[in-house]
Amino acid sequence: MRSLNMPKHIQLTESGRLKHFLTIEGLDKALLTEILDTAESFTGVSEHQIKKVPLLRGKTIVNLFFENSTRTRTTFELAATRLSADVLTVNIATSATAKGESLLDTIRNLEAMHVDMFVVRHALSGAAHFIAEHTAPHISVINAGDGQHAHPTQAMLDMFTIRQHKKQFDGLKVAIVGDILHSRVARSQILALNTLGVAEVRVIAPKTLLPARVEHMGVIALQDMREGLKDVDVVIMLRLQKERMNSAFLPSESEFFNCYGLTEEQLHYAKPDVIVMHPGPINRGVEIASSVADGERSVILQQVSNGVAVRMAVMTMVLGGYGGAA
Ligand code: NCD
Repeated sequence: MRSLNMPKHIQLTESGRLKHFLTIEGLDKALLTEILDTAESFTGVSEHQIKKVPLLRGKTIVNLFFENSTRTRTTFELAATRLSADVLTVNIATSATAKGESLLDTIRNLEAMHVDMFVVRHALSGAAHFIAEHTAPHISVINAGDGQHAHPTQAMLDMFTIRQHKKQFDGLKVAIVGDILHSRVARSQILALNTLGVAEVRVIAPKTLLPARVEHMGVIALQDMREGLKDVDVVIMLRLQKERMNSAFLPSESEFFNCYGLTEEQLHYAKPDVIVMHPGPINRGVEIASSVADGERSVILQQVSNGVAVRMAVMTMVLGGYGGAA
């Protein structure tokens, strides 16, 4: 996997506050809990008639999306708007980068427009770290997904959704199913779940879709759905990241669905009050049956709603603007 140099801990100030939000790695339970608590205080904003608080009034946020996104881009935009920031989304496919301008030149030009924050999605692992290292000191960077490396705001909205349903993390058994190998979401979720103190994180996938030495990430790896789903409280399904597969990892999609697709029958192995999650986009009939995706155990659309509050929390925390939400 190609990746840029990834320094650790540049996301924290000397006093331990968030300056950037690039990865879950190196963040402690207290900080992750602060993100969740701050997000909780923002959930009401989206339900008000006037869906705005003035916490980031006068701040300029630039969404730099070098890779496709629907949910992440729009929820970041909505989060910034609800905090009263000015937000601008740069469509990289039609920007000067497509004419050969380097990443740093693009950043320098945007800096010259006096921005306060970059929200970055990039196909290359380490891209957000690289920008955070090279940008002007007053600018904060949020990683909205870099290659196969990390997607920390997705992991936090998933933690928020789990806490909403299960109240606490202690004692929970969580299974993450599917293409773990190519998933930045799984890497961030595993770090967050272990930091927040769940009892067990399982990953269920064929060996070809598991990273080497996956157990070192603090998970139990299983190949069998029946065994893997037994008595779990939370099931997180993942999409096959075909855009990151450069060879045949699977015999066929239908074979994959037969072995690892989540159906109502498979769900019976889990606890009766299990919740079913997915970061989206979902591929019906490939990793999840429609009846499960739309069924009563599914919290997939709640994850999307929670994305706005969690992104509001992270944005205010990195810009130091949090002083208690409305
Ligand atoms: C994920 C991503 O982009 O990493 N989606 C998302 O952010 N909602 C997962 C995926 O693309 O499968």
